[in-house]
Amino acid sequence: MNSIILGTGRYLPSNVVTNHDLAQRMDTNHEWIVERTGIHERRFAIPGVDTTASMGTEAAKRALDAAGLSPHDVDLILFATLSPDYYFPGPGVQLQHNLGCRTIGAIDIRNQCSGFVYALSIADQYLRNGAANHVLVVGSELHSGGLDMSTRGRNVSVIFGDGAGAVVLGRTDEPGRGLLSTHLHSQGEHAEELALLGPSTRDWIPEIIQRNDPEDVSYFPRMNGNFVFKHAVVRFAEVIEEALTSNQLSTSDLRLLIPHQANLRIAQFIQQKLGLREDQVYNNIMRYGNTTAASIPIALSEAFDEGRIQKGDLLMMAAFGSGFTWGSALMRW
Ligand code: UT7
Repeated sequence: MNSIILGTGRYLPSNVVTNHDLAQRMDTNHEWIVERTGIHERRFAIPGVDTTASMGTEAAKRALDAAGLSPHDVDLILFATLSPDYYFPGPGVQLQHNLGCRTIGAIDIRNQCSGFVYALSIADQYLRNGAANHVLVVGSELHSGGLDMSTRGRNVSVIFGDGAGAVVLGRTDEPGRGLLSTHLHSQGEHAEELALLGPSTRDWIPEIIQRNDPEDVSYFPRMNGNFVFKHAVVRFAEVIEEALTSNQLSTSDLRLLIPHQANLRIAQFIQQKLGLREDQVYNNIMRYGNTTAASIPIALSEAFDEGRIQKGDLLMMAAFGSGFTWGSALMRW
């Protein structure tokens, strides 16, 4: 019995923010952003309307509808995000409440861009060992309120967008179908290359206030872009090849690769490195920017609705991001 995706859903805030809009707020321009990232526009949450939990809830409702299941059928929630509504508790419990699920377990996953792949791997264990029949996996992110929208933060803030994606997993007894394997990795020595350092338990809010240092912007995410880029292209390719090799498959067997939408140039680099055709790689970063843990389930839901994945197709999902963490999930749809 393999784990299988029974339904997908996504929610994108209605507020479209173009590169030209960002250029009104900082020293940047459409041409630079498109050339370096491929992004044309992204969605920003509407304050007072969209939260990480609310967007995740809407995506989850749509995934449950697509699967023909009700919230009462869900046995476990896995919620991946780096931008929870509260410092604690995590948004998994909000999802349980918003959907009206039974008092099931709700696990919060903190693996940034790799969060959805990490969550799939955990869901797979629960489904395979029979501890759950249906697992809801959600990736949701609200970056926009916490980005440095001045020129100082432009290398980070032009990349990220808000949104949510969700899948419902169950089991199949059809031979060869479903999740074939997942592969997870981490390398914490690079934790601070892409991170949000404060406030934290190493630097509490009262201490930050007491320092009253206008130069201290540790509450904005920081990223060593070139360093991250160089590691990303190596790790993406490695973990995709690891999944194919362990299943005795090759790139020509792949119907679709859905990479975490980090940067279109990274996706194109991997496509070229692995010798994949353009129609074998799904990209929507042009429209949504980088939505970290939400990017793969949003792309998956869109690709499925567009008919890009059909029954029997081999689908690879792969991610790399802050941590560093990276991973892949290979699935026969
Ligand atoms: O999902 C998590 C994983 N994250 C990633 O995978 C991100 C990986 N990294 C990247 O995607 C790229 O490094 C970036 C898109 C973030 C940056 O591209 P880059 O080619 O590495 O640019 P850079 O940081 O080396 O900056 C080049 C120049 C600098 O100017 P000078 O020093 O050459 O005069 C920057 O100040 O571009 C400047 N710059 C900008 N100019 C206009 C940086 N950001 C901007 C901007 N608009 N938004």
